[in-house]
Amino acid sequence: MRFTKETIQQDHQSNVSFIEMEENHTAHNYHPLPVVLERGEGVFLWDVEGKKYYDFLSAYSAVNQGHCHPKIINTLIEQAQKLTLTSRAFHNKEFATFSKYVSEYFGYDRFLPMNTGAEAVETALKLCRKWAYQKKGISENEAVILVCEQNFHGRTISIVSASTDPDARKEFGPFTPGFKVIPYNDVDALREALKDKNVAGFLVEPIQGEAGVNVPDFGYLAACYSLCKEYNVLFIADEIQTGIARTGELLACCHEGVKADILILGKALTGGVYPVSGVLSRDEIMLCLKPGEHGSTYGGNPLGCAVARAALEVVKEEGLAENAKRLGEILRSSLRNIKSTRINKVRGKGLLNAIIIEEKDGVSAWDICIRLMENGLLAKPTHGNIIRFAPPLVITEIQLLSCVEIIEETLLSFE
Ligand SMILES: Cc1ncc(COP(=O)(O)O)c(C=O)c1O
Repeated sequence: MRFTKETIQQDHQSNVSFIEMEENHTAHNYHPLPVVLERGEGVFLWDVEGKKYYDFLSAYSAVNQGHCHPKIINTLIEQAQKLTLTSRAFHNKEFATFSKYVSEYFGYDRFLPMNTGAEAVETALKLCRKWAYQKKGISENEAVILVCEQNFHGRTISIVSASTDPDARKEFGPFTPGFKVIPYNDVDALREALKDKNVAGFLVEPIQGEAGVNVPDFGYLAACYSLCKEYNVLFIADEIQTGIARTGELLACCHEGVKADILILGKALTGGVYPVSGVLSRDEIMLCLKPGEHGSTYGGNPLGCAVARAALEVVKEEGLAENAKRLGEILRSSLRNIKSTRINKVRGKGLLNAIIIEEKDGVSAWDICIRLMENGLLAKPTHGNIIRFAPPLVITEIQLLSCVEIIEETLLSFE
């Protein structure tokens, strides 16, 4: 069907009508697939025309617990009827309870709450600098934080100052100083960079999600961690995308037995229900901050805290890490068995995976995602020719195998 202005006006519930509306009334800072969603349940999403899809992105790994998980939603409703926001000007019961819960859950002394991932990364950077001046004895304004090539830590000015992605930086300068970029998955590069006595921290994603699910060599994280210890530098893990069971362990760092000095979490902390993020650390680091030095009006709000506690309970109650580990192996081996000349590589850990597409005969990863969508599966290209496959962790084996069939059929339809 061809959509004209007239047909759009007649049919207010079509995908196209909402896409036009969005196009006309928002900034064009995303390039979404042409589908308008209005309902979700578990691993499924429905568009405004009633078509059902498997979600193979999980809102960039925020919806690990599945869409509209009943326990999380019920908690949201109950807490929303009781108390939603106090600010940190006063204490609130849910914040106290959640701070204890989340600290014990991940094995840290203290939690500092924020809302979005980027804010939590900013918090970690500030905390690291405070520690550098107060505890390590670096002269003020001299602290350096090491970051990796192709990192993705969010979108604020300071965070894009540490980015190597031209799209993230172009025309956003001037940038925040104090970052040094080193290659990812390169222990020697870190060893060399640590010779600078002003290095305060090393900020790293255990797997680079946005860069296309770059999984470093096994042993990289543990080697970096022990180098950081040797040089008295904080190992800061951005587990916003990899954390909370996504890669088959509670945290991706757990695969190598590494416990970050500062752990950054967001996304799945509430299963996609409410924006809650934060950092976890030990007393020596966290208590460098004094009243008035950092904060957020919504950070630690009772609604978010109650929802996050329920969401973390679901992760344990439903064995989501174990499910991600088992089904991740099945997914990767099934994808490797697909006889398509368009798959160059399959990589990932747990249920954070990607296929690298051989773009040929004018068929791009985007074209493949459009056809996957038509066939009932939503996935999105990242960095051109890479398609990330990251379903909610509540997916069953039968559902996963039916997704593999959709992927196989779709890829073979281009042969
Ligand atoms: C590793 C990582 N860090 C930080 C962020 C930023 O999170 P937010 O979009 O909630 O600010 C993301 C988002 O994709 C991420 O994947």
